[in-house]
Amino acid sequence: MQRKQPIPRAVDGRAADCGAATGLGTDGGASLTQRPRRLRRAQAIRQLVAETRLHPHRFIYPLFVVPGAARREEIEALPGQFHLSPDSLVEEAAAAWEEGIRSVLLFGLPERKDETGLEAGNPAGPSQAGVQALKRALPELVVMTDLCLCSYTTHGHCGVVGSDGEILNDPTLDILAQAALSHAEAGADFVAPSDMMDGRVATIRRALDNAGFSDTGIMAYSAKYASAFYGPFRDAVGSAPQFGDRRSYQMDPANRREALREARLDAEEGADIVMVKPALAYLDVIADVRAALDRPVAAYNVSGEYAMVKAAAARGWLDERAVTLEVLTSIARAGADLIITYHAREAARWLEQ
Ligand code: PBG
Repeated sequence: MQRKQPIPRAVDGRAADCGAATGLGTDGGASLTQRPRRLRRAQAIRQLVAETRLHPHRFIYPLFVVPGAARREEIEALPGQFHLSPDSLVEEAAAAWEEGIRSVLLFGLPERKDETGLEAGNPAGPSQAGVQALKRALPELVVMTDLCLCSYTTHGHCGVVGSDGEILNDPTLDILAQAALSHAEAGADFVAPSDMMDGRVATIRRALDNAGFSDTGIMAYSAKYASAFYGPFRDAVGSAPQFGDRRSYQMDPANRREALREARLDAEEGADIVMVKPALAYLDVIADVRAALDRPVAAYNVSGEYAMVKAAAARGWLDERAVTLEVLTSIARAGADLIITYHAREAARWLEQ
């Protein structure tokens, strides 16, 4: 039980300055009317008044799918994450489901890349095969698929490249829509365009509706920043741009209002869920988007954020469990309804304890 803390006293017996400054006087605190610490006295009280609560149901677990069978290869830059063939993917998702996770986000790594990323729409590609396997084994699992060309193009950009190296917006839209259709046909519940081309949500929505997939949702990477925190992910899927960078399509980290514009546009174009990415360095943006829109807001706790915690924890510099739960709580507190995180399974286990 908590003991009453004595009021600090100066050597001569009068209340010390810190007490006097808060108007304590010499009555031992009897005149103190505001005591926020009452609500922090005991674990049960703290739980009663907690404003933010993490739950595995709000986590989305990203998974990397490769062709083949019985493959489970650890990704060097993302310790604890794996390249999974569809059969291993099912095992991983089933284990996550047991721990309370209800949703996964798939990234496909194709066997071959080409100039325009046409392979992204291959009905037999790794994403599509992964979706089919998951839906067969775990029909209730919410399966989302990342929709982008960067891991399918030889140059590593998220769109078609013009003759002068420019990333062409409109020619990219049809390829994305084609890929979206192949994901929907495989059974994806949500497609998640992460390319940041203008107008892609409207194009994908129209393509899905015209093909009879009006129930397939769109989780749009709406405020996706040109961030250095994607480094480990690009190693994991081999999507680092071979020339230039992504600043002509991803957002400038300096901008906050622009995120609202992007999120509103995506919502108007038909996005069911809007996303802010990365999460930890963009909590202000999460809070803004949450306040301004009536759609669920997802935040992506990206590879670099995960790798930082893992690397420091491996050296004994940080307590991984405590830091991870604090990070995830801060993302939820900022306003994220859903959190995409590589820590999903570990966090679910820690929350259970
Ligand atoms: C594809 C994509 C990226 C991520 C998700 N989808 C990388 C990028 O834009 O370069 C990053 C995910 C992460 O870092 O965890 N466009």
